[in-house]
Amino acid sequence: MKLELLIPESEIINKVNEIAEDIDKFFNGEKIIVIGVLKGALFFMADLLRRLKTPILYDFIQVKSYELAKSTGKIKILKEPQVDVSDKRVLIIEDILDTGLTVSYLKDYFKERGAKEVYLCVLIVKKKVRVNAIEADFKCFEIDDNFVVGYGLDYDEQLRELKEIYILRQC
Ligand code: IMP
Ligand code: MG
Repeated sequence: MKLELLIPESEIINKVNEIAEDIDKFFNGEKIIVIGVLKGALFFMADLLRRLKTPILYDFIQVKSYELAKSTGKIKILKEPQVDVSDKRVLIIEDILDTGLTVSYLKDYFKERGAKEVYLCVLIVKKKVRVNAIEADFKCFEIDDNFVVGYGLDYDEQLRELKEIYILRQC
Protein backbone atom coordinates (compact mmCIF):
# COMPACT_ATOMS: atom_id res chain seq x y z
CA MET A 1 0.00 0.00 0.00
CA LYS A 2 1.13 3.54 -0.77
CA LEU A 3 0.24 6.95 0.71
CA GLU A 4 -0.36 9.88 -1.64
CA LEU A 5 -0.66 13.36 -0.11
CA LEU A 6 -4.09 14.84 -0.80
CA ILE A 7 -4.57 17.73 1.66
CA PRO A 8 -1.63 19.39 3.45
CA GLU A 9 -1.87 20.49 7.08
CA SER A 10 -1.93 24.23 6.28
CA GLU A 11 -4.93 23.76 3.99
CA ILE A 12 -6.78 21.78 6.67
CA ILE A 13 -6.15 24.48 9.27
CA ASN A 14 -7.32 27.30 6.97
CA LYS A 15 -10.48 25.45 6.02
CA VAL A 16 -11.35 24.48 9.59
CA ASN A 17 -11.02 28.16 10.59
CA GLU A 18 -13.36 29.18 7.75
CA ILE A 19 -15.96 26.57 8.70
CA ALA A 20 -15.83 27.70 12.35
CA GLU A 21 -16.75 31.22 11.22
CA ASP A 22 -19.63 29.88 9.10
CA ILE A 23 -20.95 27.90 12.07
CA ASP A 24 -20.71 30.94 14.37
CA LYS A 25 -22.62 33.06 11.85
CA PHE A 26 -25.28 30.42 11.40
CA PHE A 27 -26.03 29.83 15.09
CA ASN A 28 -25.65 33.50 15.96
CA GLY A 29 -24.63 33.05 19.60
CA GLU A 30 -27.28 30.48 20.50
CA LYS A 31 -26.06 27.52 22.55
CA ILE A 32 -25.84 24.19 20.70
CA ILE A 33 -25.07 20.58 21.51
CA VAL A 34 -22.09 19.26 19.57
CA ILE A 35 -21.84 15.50 19.11
CA GLY A 36 -18.54 14.10 17.84
CA VAL A 37 -18.57 10.76 16.06
CA LEU A 38 -15.71 8.68 17.44
CA LYS A 39 -13.08 7.94 16.63
CA GLY A 40 -12.48 9.57 13.26
CA ALA A 41 -13.81 13.04 14.09
CA LEU A 42 -11.54 13.62 17.09
CA PHE A 43 -8.79 15.76 15.47
CA PHE A 44 -11.26 17.75 13.36
CA MET A 45 -13.62 18.31 16.29
CA ALA A 46 -10.87 19.49 18.65
CA ASP A 47 -9.46 21.94 16.09
CA LEU A 48 -12.92 23.21 15.15
CA LEU A 49 -14.21 23.68 18.70
CA ARG A 50 -11.08 25.65 19.61
CA ARG A 51 -12.03 28.21 16.95
CA LEU A 52 -15.79 28.43 17.67
CA LYS A 53 -17.30 31.35 19.55
CA THR A 54 -20.73 29.69 19.72
CA PRO A 55 -21.49 28.44 23.26
CA ILE A 56 -21.56 24.64 23.27
CA LEU A 57 -22.04 21.50 25.27
CA TYR A 58 -20.25 18.53 23.74
CA ASP A 59 -20.46 14.79 23.92
CA PHE A 60 -19.51 11.79 21.79
CA ILE A 61 -21.16 8.87 20.10
CA GLN A 62 -19.24 5.88 18.75
CA VAL A 63 -20.52 3.78 15.91
CA LYS A 64 -19.09 1.10 13.70
CA SER A 65 -19.95 0.34 10.10
CA TYR A 66 -16.60 -0.28 8.45
CA GLU A 67 -14.40 -3.36 8.36
CA LEU A 68 -10.95 -2.55 6.90
CA ALA A 69 -11.73 -0.37 3.87
CA LYS A 70 -15.33 -1.49 3.25
CA SER A 71 -18.73 -0.49 4.66
CA THR A 72 -20.62 -3.45 6.15
CA GLY A 73 -23.93 -1.66 5.54
CA LYS A 74 -24.97 -2.10 9.18
CA ILE A 75 -24.50 0.40 12.01
CA LYS A 76 -23.61 -0.71 15.51
CA ILE A 77 -23.54 1.74 18.44
CA LEU A 78 -20.45 1.23 20.62
CA LYS A 79 -20.90 4.30 22.88
CA GLU A 80 -24.05 6.35 23.53
CA PRO A 81 -23.91 10.04 24.43
CA GLN A 82 -25.12 11.03 27.92
CA VAL A 83 -26.25 14.56 27.10
CA ASP A 84 -29.99 15.36 26.93
CA VAL A 85 -30.75 16.62 23.40
CA SER A 86 -34.50 17.12 23.82
CA ASP A 87 -35.62 20.43 22.32
CA LYS A 88 -32.00 21.35 21.57
CA ARG A 89 -30.15 22.25 18.39
CA VAL A 90 -27.66 19.45 17.68
CA LEU A 91 -24.58 19.64 15.47
CA ILE A 92 -23.07 16.28 14.52
CA ILE A 93 -19.34 16.36 13.74
CA GLU A 94 -18.26 13.51 11.46
CA ASP A 95 -14.98 12.79 9.70
CA ILE A 96 -16.26 11.67 6.30
CA LEU A 97 -19.47 11.30 4.36
CA ASP A 98 -19.21 8.20 2.20
CA THR A 99 -22.41 6.21 1.58
CA GLY A 100 -24.24 8.45 4.06
CA LEU A 101 -25.53 5.46 6.00
CA THR A 102 -23.89 6.43 9.31
CA VAL A 103 -25.04 10.03 9.27
CA SER A 104 -28.53 9.16 8.13
CA TYR A 105 -28.75 6.75 11.08
CA LEU A 106 -27.36 9.38 13.49
CA LYS A 107 -29.75 12.10 12.37
CA ASP A 108 -32.69 9.77 13.07
CA TYR A 109 -31.11 8.76 16.41
CA PHE A 110 -31.09 12.36 17.68
CA LYS A 111 -34.47 13.25 16.20
CA GLU A 112 -36.00 10.23 17.96
CA ARG A 113 -34.51 11.55 21.20
CA GLY A 114 -36.34 14.86 20.73
CA ALA A 115 -33.70 17.15 19.20
CA LYS A 116 -35.29 20.31 17.82
CA GLU A 117 -32.91 20.45 14.86
CA VAL A 118 -30.05 18.21 13.74
CA TYR A 119 -27.24 19.64 11.60
CA LEU A 120 -24.25 17.94 10.10
CA CYS A 121 -20.67 19.17 9.88
CA VAL A 122 -18.15 16.97 8.05
CA LEU A 123 -14.48 17.24 7.25
CA ILE A 124 -14.68 15.37 3.94
CA VAL A 125 -17.47 14.61 1.52
CA LYS A 126 -16.86 11.96 -1.14
CA LYS A 127 -18.34 12.73 -4.55
CA LYS A 128 -20.76 9.84 -5.00
CA VAL A 129 -24.41 8.88 -4.74
CA ARG A 130 -25.58 8.59 -1.13
CA VAL A 131 -28.44 6.86 0.66
CA ASN A 132 -31.38 9.11 1.61
CA ALA A 133 -29.88 12.05 -0.35
CA ILE A 134 -28.10 13.09 2.85
CA GLU A 135 -26.16 16.38 2.64
CA ALA A 136 -23.73 18.14 4.96
CA ASP A 137 -24.76 21.55 6.33
CA PHE A 138 -21.08 22.44 6.78
CA LYS A 139 -18.23 20.75 4.95
CA CYS A 140 -14.51 21.39 4.54
CA PHE A 141 -13.45 19.31 1.52
CA GLU A 142 -15.06 17.47 -1.36
CA ILE A 143 -12.93 14.65 -2.81
CA ASP A 144 -13.14 11.92 -5.45
CA ASP A 145 -14.21 8.47 -4.28
CA ASN A 146 -10.88 7.26 -2.85
CA PHE A 147 -10.07 5.74 0.53
CA VAL A 148 -8.31 8.38 2.65
CA VAL A 149 -6.40 8.31 5.94
CA GLY A 150 -4.82 10.73 8.40
CA TYR A 151 -6.07 13.61 10.58
CA GLY A 152 -8.15 11.10 12.54
CA LEU A 153 -9.18 8.88 9.63
CA ASP A 154 -7.97 5.29 9.80
CA TYR A 155 -7.33 2.14 7.87
CA ASP A 156 -7.99 -0.69 10.32
CA GLU A 157 -7.24 1.70 13.25
CA GLN A 158 -3.85 2.66 11.75
CA LEU A 159 -2.59 6.00 10.38
CA ARG A 160 -4.99 8.27 12.33
CA GLU A 161 -2.03 10.24 13.70
CA LEU A 162 -0.88 11.67 10.36
CA LYS A 163 -1.15 15.48 10.31
CA GLU A 164 -2.20 15.57 6.65
CA ILE A 165 -4.84 13.70 4.66
CA TYR A 166 -3.59 11.00 2.26
CA ILE A 167 -5.12 8.72 -0.35
CA LEU A 168 -4.36 5.10 0.50
CA ARG A 169 -3.48 3.35 -2.74
CA GLN A 170 -3.61 -0.44 -2.85
CA CYS A 171 -0.64 -1.47 -4.98
P1 IMP B 1 -20.75 5.89 5.58
O1 IMP B 1 -21.71 5.38 6.60
O2 IMP B 1 -20.61 4.96 4.40
O3 IMP B 1 -21.02 7.32 5.13
O4 IMP B 1 -19.31 5.83 6.20
C1 IMP B 1 -18.98 6.62 7.21
C2 IMP B 1 -17.85 6.04 8.03
O5 IMP B 1 -17.02 5.12 7.31
C3 IMP B 1 -16.96 7.17 8.42
O6 IMP B 1 -17.34 7.67 9.66
C4 IMP B 1 -15.60 6.54 8.44
O7 IMP B 1 -15.35 6.01 9.72
C5 IMP B 1 -15.66 5.39 7.50
N1 IMP B 1 -15.05 5.76 6.20
C6 IMP B 1 -15.68 5.95 5.02
N2 IMP B 1 -14.83 6.28 4.06
C7 IMP B 1 -13.61 6.33 4.65
C8 IMP B 1 -12.29 6.63 4.15
O8 IMP B 1 -12.06 6.96 2.98
N3 IMP B 1 -11.29 6.57 5.07
C9 IMP B 1 -11.48 6.23 6.36
N4 IMP B 1 -12.69 5.94 6.87
C10 IMP B 1 -13.75 5.98 6.00
MG1 MG C 1 -15.80 7.14 11.51
